Amino acid sequence: MGAIFIAMEGLDGSGGTTQTARLADWLRSNGHAEVVTTAEPSTGPAGRFIRDVLNPQHEASVIGDAVLPFLFAADRRDHLDREVIPALQRGAAVITDRYYHSSLAYQSLAVGLPTVADLNERFRAPDITIFLDLEPEVSLARIEARGGTLERFEAIDRLRSIAEAYDAVLVHCRARGEHIVRISADGSIDDVHKRVVEAVQSTIEALS
Ligand code: TMP
Repeated sequence: MGAIFIAMEGLDGSGGTTQTARLADWLRSNGHAEVVTTAEPSTGPAGRFIRDVLNPQHEASVIGDAVLPFLFAADRRDHLDREVIPALQRGAAVITDRYYHSSLAYQSLAVGLPTVADLNERFRAPDITIFLDLEPEVSLARIEARGGTLERFEAIDRLRSIAEAYDAVLVHCRARGEHIVRISADGSIDDVHKRVVEAVQSTIEALS
C-alpha cells in the first residue's frame, strides 16, 4: 500500500493519542509495511521548547500567546522536513497526533484565524484528517481523571472557545478542499477505533 498522511485532531482529552496508536496497529496488520506515528508539538528541539512554554511552572511560559503561532509553525516546518516528508517519500503511512488544524483552532483565539491560516497555508495537507468530536465538559472530565497538571489550554471556558474555533477551522479547511471526517469520540476506545478505521479505509480505497 502506498504512502498516506493522516492527521488526528480534537480537544485535549478527546483520545487522539490513544486512537493514533490503535490506528497504527490496524494499518500494520492490514498491509502497511511501514507505519510512522508522530505528534505535534514534535520531539525535536522546537517542539521541546514549546512544551516548556506550555508548562506554567517553566520560566519559558512568560512567552505570550501572540508568539505561539510562530513557534508552532517553526516546529511544524522542522517536523515535516525531518520526519514526515522523508517517511512519506519512503512510502510509509504517517499518522500525526495533531497538525496545523490545532494551530488554526488554538492560536486563532489569540491572533485570529486569518493570521494563523497565512502562517500555515503552505504546509502539506493531510490525505485525511480525523476530528475526534467531544463535548468540552466530557473533555475536561477526562483530563481531570487522568490527573497531572493542567496545561495552558485546559480550563472549561478555554475548551468551549477552542471547540467553537475548531468548528470554524473545519469549515475553512474543507473550503480549501481538505478531506476531514468528524467522528464522535464518545463511547469506548474500541467504538471510536472502529469509526476511525471505517473513515481511513474508505480514504485508502479512494486513493488507490
Ligand atoms: P498535546 O496535549 O496533544 O500533547 O498538545 C499540547 C497542547 O498544545 C494541546 O493543548 C494543544 C496545543 N497545541 C496548540 O495550541 N497548537 C498547535 O499547533 C499544536 C500542535 C498543539
